[in-house]
Amino acid sequence: MLKLDLHRKSFAGHTVLEDIHLDLRHGDRIAVFGPSGVGKTTLLRIIAGLDKRFVGTREAPDEIALMFQNPTLLDWRTAFENLRIFHPNAEGRAIQEALAQVGLHDKADHFPRQLSVGQQRRLALARCFLTPTPLVLLDEPFASLDQSLRQEMLALTRAFLDKTGSTLVLVTHAQDEAEALAAESYELRDVLQPDTELAAL
Ligand SMILES: Nc1ncnc2c1ncn2[C@@H]1O[C@H](COP(=O)(O)OP(=O)(O)OP(=O)(O)O)[C@@H](O)[C@H]1O
Ligand SMILES: [Mg+2]
Repeated sequence: MLKLDLHRKSFAGHTVLEDIHLDLRHGDRIAVFGPSGVGKTTLLRIIAGLDKRFVGTREAPDEIALMFQNPTLLDWRTAFENLRIFHPNAEGRAIQEALAQVGLHDKADHFPRQLSVGQQRRLALARCFLTPTPLVLLDEPFASLDQSLRQEMLALTRAFLDKTGSTLVLVTHAQDEAEALAAESYELRDVLQPDTELAAL
């Protein structure tokens, strides 16, 4: 369902990623580790189809859910509208249910600035999972959250994934997140090192 043969990705002549091959089936879950600046977000953007400037080939479903470290909500839209705008075919009831699932049932009319950081993150998670998509890409969505909120978000994400059976690519620095989501761990190594492929941890 996701096949990526990435021979090379460069920015202005500087190679960031080289020889990365992914072949994931429905329901597979992987976690990608690696030091800051190694190219994890770049890889995720390529998988998402947001960056097409690379040498190689990509086969992926059209519908992909994405969540970044920054919740990327629309400030001038309410919580309800933030979900609706990304899921125009979802019924109002389904949107309300999605809000309730992440504990925001009474926040439908609130704007992002009226929500706490944790609530904004939960709204972004609801947006990610409102309509089941075959492929879910998460870029450090649990970073810099306090421990209890992190556990709560992980549990919600696990429940969503178990329900939808979506394929997952998670970028993270935390091994316990990979374990909580039952994702197989891979390390993205620096292109300057001899073994540049994704290596199983
Ligand atoms: N649009 C861009 N133009 C030029 N260079 C870029 C661009 N985006 C990323 N890079 C470079 O590519 C490299 C990889 O960046 P990337 O954001 O993928 O790292 P990362 O592994 O996600 O790091 P972090 O863990 O800090 O999020 C970095 O050296 C970065 O400076
Ligand atoms: Mg990154």
